[in-house]
Amino acid sequence: MDLPLRASDEHILIVRVLRARRAPGRSPSLFDSLQAFCYAPSGFRACCDEPSLTPMNIKDYLEQKRVEVDRFLDSVSPTSTTPPTTLHESMRYSLMAGGKRVRPILAIAAAEAVGQPAPGLMPIACSLELIHTYSLIHDDLPAMDNDDFRRGKPTNHKVYGDAMAILAGDALLTMAFDLCSRPDLMKGCDPARQVRLIQELAHGSGNVGMVGGQVFDIQAENKDIDLPTLQNIHKHKTGMLIRAAVRMGAIAAGAEDRPLDDLTSYAEDVGLAFQIADDVLNVTGTREELGKNPNTDAERGKKTYPTFYGTEGARKLADDCVARAIARLSPFGPAADPLRELARYITSRRN
Ligand code: IPE
Ligand code: IPE
Ligand code: MG
Ligand code: MG
Repeated sequence: MDLPLRASDEHILIVRVLRARRAPGRSPSLFDSLQAFCYAPSGFRACCDEPSLTPMNIKDYLEQKRVEVDRFLDSVSPTSTTPPTTLHESMRYSLMAGGKRVRPILAIAAAEAVGQPAPGLMPIACSLELIHTYSLIHDDLPAMDNDDFRRGKPTNHKVYGDAMAILAGDALLTMAFDLCSRPDLMKGCDPARQVRLIQELAHGSGNVGMVGGQVFDIQAENKDIDLPTLQNIHKHKTGMLIRAAVRMGAIAAGAEDRPLDDLTSYAEDVGLAFQIADDVLNVTGTREELGKNPNTDAERGKKTYPTFYGTEGARKLADDCVARAIARLSPFGPAADPLRELARYITSRRN
């Protein structure tokens, strides 16, 4: 293959397996793409503008990663016979109740897209699930959304009472930072990188992240909010933790500024798509499918994307976000296919 190009850090080489070179009926092989990558002059970022030549199965990928995440969370969570036993029972009740594990899986997939070793990836990824689970326990409390069904079971406070649910949430939040700082779990992670990861987690979870979004959300109840206000709620209450997940996976794998920026843009679009999909499912899903009660947004006087655009219009907007997110990944090769498929899964999911 002839590449009359001058190497420069500013250039991106788009690797396209030329269809003309293929014999009729022959599908592109891994060899074709590897050959194209090998011919990339040094200094060019070799990228692929075609979907993976060997299509991945996102269902298998999600299942495999979910099992790994569940196993790790189980191994680091105190048993329910460890004092204070009710606290640990209550933490485990929600943590091991069968969440989709989207945030840790996004972190793992982002690290894979960057393609370098990522010491401490599992504790980093699982710290996001601890924060997420705490946010759900608190979100369901009578003082917030007052929901009585979550992950296919009665909500935490329905079983353990409000005080224990608050404390279980507090403990999960704190445990997230413990996981990211434990020397045994984070062995091999550069200390400066570790501090950066912890800061990303705090930023995505706290007052300017998820907690801030929850505040905007409850302040908007029964108010005639406009679309930018709704976007701002979604960006914070759901988007910031998803953004942190992708960034933390990428940072753990040593991503440089430019790929990190691309991945951050991907995550922002995926985060919005995720919450729009949640809004749509709240209208269209059943309790059996969702593992939580449907129609609660309308009952609580919350304006959501379907309120503004109707169900179909909201679905279309979520699909637009997904398309934008996938386009952000154009500088990445097949290693980013899990991220591409995760973006598609987020709007096609039924729970
Ligand atoms: C639900 O999150 C709450 C939102 C932020 C939209 P998930 O849909 O990821 O819930 P689980 O973790 O699978 O239960
Ligand atoms: C949950 O948002 C967001 C967080 C817990 C941060 P919602 O209140 O809209 O989600 P569900 O419908 O209860 O899962
Ligand atoms: Mg809520
Ligand atoms: Mg809620």
